[in-house]
Amino acid sequence: MVIGASGQIGSELVVELRKIYGTGNVWATDIKTPRAGVADEGPFQVLDVMDDKQLIHFVIRNKITQIYHLAAVLSGNAEKLPIQAWNINMDSLMNILEVARMVEDVKKVFWPSSIAVFGPTTPRVNTPQLTTMEPITVYGISKLAGERWCDYYYNKYGVDVRSVRYPGLISYKTEAGGGTTDYAVEIYYEAVRNGRYTSFLQEGTALPMLFMPDAIKGTIDLMEAERSKLTIHSSYNLGGFSTTPEQITAEIRKHIPDFAISYNPDFRQQIAESWPQSVDDTVTRMDWGYETKYDLEKMTGIMLEEIRKKTNH
Ligand code: SER
Repeated sequence: MVIGASGQIGSELVVELRKIYGTGNVWATDIKTPRAGVADEGPFQVLDVMDDKQLIHFVIRNKITQIYHLAAVLSGNAEKLPIQAWNINMDSLMNILEVARMVEDVKKVFWPSSIAVFGPTTPRVNTPQLTTMEPITVYGISKLAGERWCDYYYNKYGVDVRSVRYPGLISYKTEAGGGTTDYAVEIYYEAVRNGRYTSFLQEGTALPMLFMPDAIKGTIDLMEAERSKLTIHSSYNLGGFSTTPEQITAEIRKHIPDFAISYNPDFRQQIAESWPQSVDDTVTRMDWGYETKYDLEKMTGIMLEEIRKKTNH
């Protein structure tokens, strides 16, 4: 069962899970009906993860064995409505952990954390797995609290909940909404559509990023890993590549030489500056063999080509 199946990660994860487990064995759920594809290619249910009764009935009735809970309010949007974002991010996770604790059929849970769990007092380059964590955003606070709850349910109740701290995720199928790393998706769309982009992050702002196929493979590999190999029950650092708006610009210009960038930083600049520039994922690689295939150059070629096809440019 995938919760948040219409979102940036969910819409691609459902497709991959259906290849592995069979279309009929993967339930896509969301409060919204998804883009064409997910809903008509296999089982889909409109479901609000905040409704704990509807959730538990659904899980029992459909004999759900694994839950991927991806619904969340991202960093930028959460700053606009802090209390609502906190309630959505926390209550939904608690509903899932409780279902996993109570329903015996449920064997594994995946819940994403984020680089947002770190803050200005964290070392920003090669951020270690275990380090100072003083997030300054509502989103980051909710993810850090969530990590502690995951670890708690693992230790206290034996709930097999697995998690990674995603860096910024870049993809062309479904756009993210309201995140700080979203500029790195928007820049490709605007390059193809208009040949120019105004970045809401300043030149020189380095953040860790990951191309969606690597993120999806990593997520599924973690869920498939032998439980005995896992030593982290809060959330694993997940590396990719570190990049800045001007580095992406330079790569885009190899394909679109006239591409123009300008900078108009907004409130998300401060958020970005409190996050790591790169993360150390040695433990992740050692425990369950995480690896990536795409760097900025390879990803840029694919992003531009796919967005051109999608937007008929
Ligand atoms: N990509 C997310 C955001 O920017 C971070 O997890 O909010």
